[in-house]
Amino acid sequence: MCGIVGYIGSRDATPIILSGLKRLEYRGYDSAGIAVLVNDRIEIRREAGKLSNLENLVNDAPMHGVTGIGHTRWATHGEPSARNAHPHLGMTGEVVVVHNGIVENFLELRQELSSEGAIFNSDTDTEVIAHLIERYLAAGTRLVQASRHAFTHLKGAHAIVVLSSREPDQIIAARIGNAGGVVVGLGRDEMFIASDLPAILEHTRHVVFLESSQIAVVTRQGLEVTTLDGKAVDYEIHNVSWDPVAAEKGEYRHFMEKEIHEQVRSLTDTIDGRVDFENGNGIRLPELNLTPELAKRIRKIFITACGTAAHAGMIGKILIEHIARLTVEVDIASEFRYRDPIIDRDTVVLAISQSGETADTLAAMEEARQKGAVLWSNVNAIGSQAMRLADGYISMQCGPEIGVASTKAYTAPLVDIYMLAILLGSLRGALDKSQRQRLIADLRRVPDLVGRCLNREAQVKKVARALANTQHCIYLGRGINMPTAYEGALKLKEISYIHAEGYPAGEMKHGPIALIDKEMPVIAIAPQDPWYEKMLSQIEQAKARGGIVIAVATEGDERISAIADHVLWVPETPWLLSPVTTVIPLQMLAYHIAALRGLDVDQPRNLAKSVTVE
Ligand code: F6R
Repeated sequence: MCGIVGYIGSRDATPIILSGLKRLEYRGYDSAGIAVLVNDRIEIRREAGKLSNLENLVNDAPMHGVTGIGHTRWATHGEPSARNAHPHLGMTGEVVVVHNGIVENFLELRQELSSEGAIFNSDTDTEVIAHLIERYLAAGTRLVQASRHAFTHLKGAHAIVVLSSREPDQIIAARIGNAGGVVVGLGRDEMFIASDLPAILEHTRHVVFLESSQIAVVTRQGLEVTTLDGKAVDYEIHNVSWDPVAAEKGEYRHFMEKEIHEQVRSLTDTIDGRVDFENGNGIRLPELNLTPELAKRIRKIFITACGTAAHAGMIGKILIEHIARLTVEVDIASEFRYRDPIIDRDTVVLAISQSGETADTLAAMEEARQKGAVLWSNVNAIGSQAMRLADGYISMQCGPEIGVASTKAYTAPLVDIYMLAILLGSLRGALDKSQRQRLIADLRRVPDLVGRCLNREAQVKKVARALANTQHCIYLGRGINMPTAYEGALKLKEISYIHAEGYPAGEMKHGPIALIDKEMPVIAIAPQDPWYEKMLSQIEQAKARGGIVIAVATEGDERISAIADHVLWVPETPWLLSPVTTVIPLQMLAYHIAALRGLDVDQPRNLAKSVTVE
């Protein structure tokens, strides 16, 4: 969703901000804008559509200054257009604001400000913030104080950055609630502000993450952080090790393609250093802060997440219940806080999130915190809110994921939770040494098995060509691969815009089987796992109704190759880990179908990488 970049220093701010915004394109946006202080006057350029439109505008009417802010907008209030794009000015032209989040009470504020004489130039909720700050500046207040006063009027969660020609030597940045992050990058005689790390990593690795309800005054030489009510904050400087090159496409056509292929490495990194292969003795997840006492005390785990991360959670439930013999419930995060879940201090709530900034997931975590649960997270983005809110976390070892469709951040949590299940099972006495050693030995094979799936890309491309013009698809899975059906269908629909449904195979006969005919390809996930025979009979039933069947099956399975129209082969994989391999051909299939259809694979329409509004 919306992206923010700010710069204050001695270099030309415009190219720095534009290149930062470019690195945030993956978040999804529909318009963009930039404001720069030119000779102590604010100049603004804004444009609808892609960043290249804004770049053309800036090339036609250049502006040079050493302080500025920029924004990519994902419309919530008001259509995507130049006038609704951020930054937004107040009436005097002295205050300009960019903002992520939704001002929930903006209609009341707009009425109130209009009655005081404010004239609005956009349909956005953001514009009220600029007018509010001006209201307090007019009373002679300093910018930071005026911003503070203004922010106290806003309902909802926000990341806000403010620039004013009245105090041109500073930028104000604030984080209120959980509307995505604000990170300040510390340079030498220059400072950077962004909603996400990739925007600033080419300039600095020393960063400070603002916590909720903190406000920063950023000058060329320094950073001062206070709480919203003015108390000084001792902030921590993090040194980020992410390689900015990891966020480049390299030899690949799309980030998604690159990220699918990175899974051998990401899964190797996921396992590395956390598993004692030599003695099969155990799993190390130190950041989780899981003591033997806590492991024994836990009575129930809730896994909460959205979208792809929720599918990973559904598999996580099966892993923890089977390996650690502990009850797990999975909740879609956007529903969790509305159903009054029964939680106490012996309950763990585990949030899974690639971005660590998904508003619904953070709200579910807050609900869990209020109810007294132990909070864990499994997060990819370093320093994100979901990582910092938790009592303990497992960090996904994926590096930046840029493609909007999540791939490597789906397989990483499967392995993370497998390791967590072993750790819990061991600490709770549910696993004996030989069981643990066998589970750990299986884990060691994962990167190689995934590599073997990737080597079969040519075969997947052939199937992609056969399906490229289809209108609908149904994905069927059972047992531990039932969520794989959901995930395969989600991947296809989000990037190819083909209507795809994931279904538990056993539910077919309760309705969806009516859909099957020769126009409806059926993608059946049927590796040799405990549900294999059942899946086979499902495939027979689809074939009997004229359906075209594409099976995901274990190499060498002749029964499947005799009945399916196409087979996507995966190597024989221990069943608890089979979702890690069965999803790989489905990711590649979705990717190649979308690429064949000539679609914007990395930034599909209407989608955002990080969903920071409810
Ligand atoms: C689908 C996809 C989304 C995300 C969901 C949660 O490919 O990427 O469904 O999984 O928006 O995002 P995170 O994991 O950042 O909380």
